[in-house]
Amino acid sequence: MNNFIMKGDICYSETSDTLRLCEDAYLICENGRSMGVFTQIPENYQHFEVLDYTGHMIVPGLSDLHVHAPQYAYRGLGMDMELLEWLETYAFPEESGYKEPAYADKAYSMFVQDLKYSPTTRFCAFATIHTSATLKLMALLENSGLKGYVGKVNMDRNSPDYYCEESAEASLEATREWLMQSEQFHNVRPIITPRFTPSCTDALMMGLGAIASENHLAVQSHLSENLGEIDWVKELCPDSKNYMDTYISAGLAAPGRKSIMAHCVYSDEREIQMMKDNDTYAIHCPQCNMNIASGIAPVRKWLDIGVHMGLGSDVAGGATLSIFRTMMEARQVSKLVWRLLDQNLKSLTLEEIFWMGTKAGGSFFGKVGSFEPGYELDALVLDESRMPHPQALTLRQRLERYICLSENGDLLHKYVSGNKIF
Ligand code: GUN
Ligand code: FE
Repeated sequence: MNNFIMKGDICYSETSDTLRLCEDAYLICENGRSMGVFTQIPENYQHFEVLDYTGHMIVPGLSDLHVHAPQYAYRGLGMDMELLEWLETYAFPEESGYKEPAYADKAYSMFVQDLKYSPTTRFCAFATIHTSATLKLMALLENSGLKGYVGKVNMDRNSPDYYCEESAEASLEATREWLMQSEQFHNVRPIITPRFTPSCTDALMMGLGAIASENHLAVQSHLSENLGEIDWVKELCPDSKNYMDTYISAGLAAPGRKSIMAHCVYSDEREIQMMKDNDTYAIHCPQCNMNIASGIAPVRKWLDIGVHMGLGSDVAGGATLSIFRTMMEARQVSKLVWRLLDQNLKSLTLEEIFWMGTKAGGSFFGKVGSFEPGYELDALVLDESRMPHPQALTLRQRLERYICLSENGDLLHKYVSGNKIF
């Protein structure tokens, strides 16, 4: 039974502007869900076991809404090109290797091991076009205790011969087969994953839209990341209103069915509004946007319009799995937008970046990413021992500093839905 109480210095978001900071407080977990944070243990929970993390910060688990699992092996390499050349030179050759079960097993095991010990509790991951390797990844993740979505990638055009599906019909058939086999998993669920418009024929996009709609499945893809990519989509889809319209018109984004679009660096107000109207999450991946020189997403505009949003590591465009690091980078690049591009776009606050990595992104998975009553209890117990300070800091200062200084290993414990992962 996941009934217990965590005692410590508890921090969580209520809104994009409000952090709740509770020193020496009690977080009640009943049946894997938060019953709230209290200064004293309420009468009816006196019999629950108390896990004493006094002096340590406890925060909600983080959500990584965009990560390419098969790119993990070459993170930190090949940061010398822009997107389209980078895909041809590095991503496609690496991903094609996952047709070999032994390679998939070895490389995915390394990814899952590191994700397990990272601050991420919930994920949306791309796999490759290969059904068996994708199922292997799902099995490893299921075993890790983390929760999230994995997508078998669809690509049937503009891709090298060695990494391209034979036809739209073959790709759709493989997707249906993969969906059937995915039913064996519970914590890891399938998500429809057209790589991006340039890699998918109209027939494939429409077919995937129909599968998503029939099976009530979420969708993930890429949107308006790079200028060359956007020009290419205009050429490929001359009748579309904009890039987002290529997904909406295929039924890949629709009201009432969640979808995820990574990057949105060049999405204008109209495109962001279309995303909002179709329950689409805009995912900010600042490190990737720097590494392959795509640009800087105007997150302040996303906040003003009120589109759903979250953060992504975008490994291996990004080189690190830590969403704390991503929070910091989101804050840093927002200062460059304000300084260099537009003084009306105020830089992001501590409250905003923490909210994006916890409650905003977590909402993709349901009631996830906060400690308000009713939220699934995903929690991290933080280890600040590597970052001592000569003075007593406030809890807000400790949180801000941890986001900036922490590395993946600076965790004592991790819980997902009240289950202890380590
Ligand atoms: N667009 C299409 N595929 C990819 C990918 O693997 N990484 C990034 N960053 N963008 C993409
Ligand atoms: Fe990506």
